[in-house]
Amino acid sequence: MQGARAASAARAPGGASAPATPVGEPLLQLRAINKSFGSVRALSDITMEVPAGQVTALVGDNGAGKSTLIKAIAGIAPPDHGEIYWKGKPVRIHTPRDASALGIATVFQDLALCDNLDIVQNLYLGRERLRARTLDENTMELGAKQALADLSVVTVRSIRQLVASLSGGQRQAVAVAKAVMGNAELVIMDEPTAALGVTQTAQVLALIKRLAERGIAVLVISHNLRDVFEVADRIAVLYLGRLAGEGPIAEFDTQNTVEMITTGAATPRSAANSAAPSTDDAKDH
Ligand SMILES: Nc1ncnc2c1ncn2[C@@H]1O[C@H](COP(=O)(O)OP(=O)(O)O)[C@@H](O)[C@H]1O
Ligand SMILES: [Mg+2]
Repeated sequence: MQGARAASAARAPGGASAPATPVGEPLLQLRAINKSFGSVRALSDITMEVPAGQVTALVGDNGAGKSTLIKAIAGIAPPDHGEIYWKGKPVRIHTPRDASALGIATVFQDLALCDNLDIVQNLYLGRERLRARTLDENTMELGAKQALADLSVVTVRSIRQLVASLSGGQRQAVAVAKAVMGNAELVIMDEPTAALGVTQTAQVLALIKRLAERGIAVLVISHNLRDVFEVADRIAVLYLGRLAGEGPIAEFDTQNTVEMITTGAATPRSAANSAAPSTDDAKDH
């Protein structure tokens, strides 16, 4: 496979490869996604879109359905009903392989890195480069350096460092580099800053911004609204499996976002005094 360089070529302005979705245009669209676990309706009629080249934050209280939604998009637990469109075309995402073939990469909370392997080995796990039937270490080292440099990751001292020795922020960076090396156009991240301190959180937020600058869409789950307001272009709020609200960051502030997360409804920022009932309430029965 062509690796990271082919991916950047495809995204380069005027690149001759697959047409890139213009920034802000829908890359992924969900229509009426439903998912139940027994009697628990984890997702009810979720209709939303993730635009290309922007950061969309997915927020909501514990049990709201955030992880279920990203598992549906990542092909880990496909929805019971509903449609998924990728670049305007209906797609079936039934396995993680389906998702990665489209260009959807997911960085899960446990990061799925191998502590006992170094950075290069982790980045090329399962896609090792060979040369005359032995591992082509030079090519892989160069690829690993390039992948980290593309993300402006400068704090890693050696790419031969074991992943176990990295800080939380660095591990996150390696996991993201690994995701992006597979030609990702959408990177989904589940709580990437949850376990991190202040400095490392700042590094990961900068990383998210750089992904968007490179034309990659990011869908990020976060509990931390400060992080959300720092990086997100859009917010989608889940409440008990329903989409309580979605829109550009300018339509949200901490107050109405918290309100939406905790009650499923909120006073619009532009009309703080209007007492209009939520349309979502009207939908219930
Ligand atoms: N594998 C599962 N089996 C049964 N119930 C589940 C499963 N996964 C999630 N749920 C339920 O679905 C709802 C949404 O969960 P989840 O998507 O994990 O929420 P969040 O990530 O927003 O905290 C919760 O009520 C949860 O208990
Ligand atoms: Mg979750």
